[in-house]
Amino acid sequence: MKVTPWEVSGDVDYDKLVKQFGVKRIDAKMRARLKKLAGEEHHMLRRDIFFSHMYFDKILDAVEKGEPVYMYTGRAPSGPVHLGHAVPWLFAKWLQDAFGCKLIFQIPDEEKPMFKKGCSWDDVAKWTDDNILDIIAIGFDPEKTKIVIDTKHASLMYKTACRVAEKTTASTAKALFGFTDSDNVGKYFYSCMQSVPAFLPSILEGKRTPCFIPCAIDQDVHFRLTRDVAEKLGYPKPSTLLCRFLPGLGGAGKLSSSEGAMITMTDDPKTVRKKIMKYAFSGGKETVEEHREKGGDTSVDVSYQWLTFFEKDDKKLARVKKEYESGKMLSGEIKQILVDKVNELLAAHQERREKAAKLVEQFIL
Ligand code: TRP
Repeated sequence: MKVTPWEVSGDVDYDKLVKQFGVKRIDAKMRARLKKLAGEEHHMLRRDIFFSHMYFDKILDAVEKGEPVYMYTGRAPSGPVHLGHAVPWLFAKWLQDAFGCKLIFQIPDEEKPMFKKGCSWDDVAKWTDDNILDIIAIGFDPEKTKIVIDTKHASLMYKTACRVAEKTTASTAKALFGFTDSDNVGKYFYSCMQSVPAFLPSILEGKRTPCFIPCAIDQDVHFRLTRDVAEKLGYPKPSTLLCRFLPGLGGAGKLSSSEGAMITMTDDPKTVRKKIMKYAFSGGKETVEEHREKGGDTSVDVSYQWLTFFEKDDKKLARVKKEYESGKMLSGEIKQILVDKVNELLAAHQERREKAAKLVEQFIL
């Protein structure tokens, strides 16, 4: 298994990651506190999709006392937004509603040209405009959400990035990110840029303001660097809330734009159906007879795995599991259930996306 911000491959062992990264499990007590504050429990918490954190108890303390907290997340554009990207954002939207908190959404439009071969600055400019529509379409509160674009908001961010850089040695960056001497120096500096929005709450508010970051666990390493330098610069250490990866349609690893099949936020219903029917790895048996007799394996079936991410209703999910595992439900049937679920989600998203262009001005800091 390999889990870095640039590559996720193999069978991800999350227990191992928790140990390797030195993060904490979200336990029943934390879930109960969150549930009390939010008035409901999000299915991604209940199903251990958001499963890990660092210092999130501090955020709960602040929210319980009615003190302001900020949320921060981000997206480096180099292609269309897909359902895997949307997982932490959907959760962030719920948290914003629950806490009534402000959100800073970073668009590091310099990240991908530094890290991804063949990704041009022109591509990034195009995908930045496109991806902003998807971010807005998630439904974040326009009054409480600000998008910061690294090159556009350079004057706001540059000094703090330099302060982070001043406190970060090349050996630290090498140890954390695995950079080598042949990597361009932009990569080293970028690792400082991703810390900046975690400090913007304190900078914008003019006083120490706690910040928490919901994201997939591959981003954790960035915030280890951020926490290393935070107190040295007089800012609180950011908290994180970390989620698992939505598996690729072909199974294992994360849903990646660069390999295998993915479903983007703008796919039409026919395309969604075609992709799921063709690529979704099945835990079903070779023949109908064998399947009826032995049943399907939900632990490897991608359609079932995806339903745990997107089907909120526990009863429906339990029924699918039971019928699929008993052999009553066939592969094609579970796939169709997923097709319907994804298309329902995307129809609502695409409707909001149509109206998003008018809101762009309002969302950009
Ligand atoms: N590095 C992320 C990416 O590759 C983008 C990003 C910037 C981000 N800031 C973040 C992701 C904060 C999660 C949280 O897309």
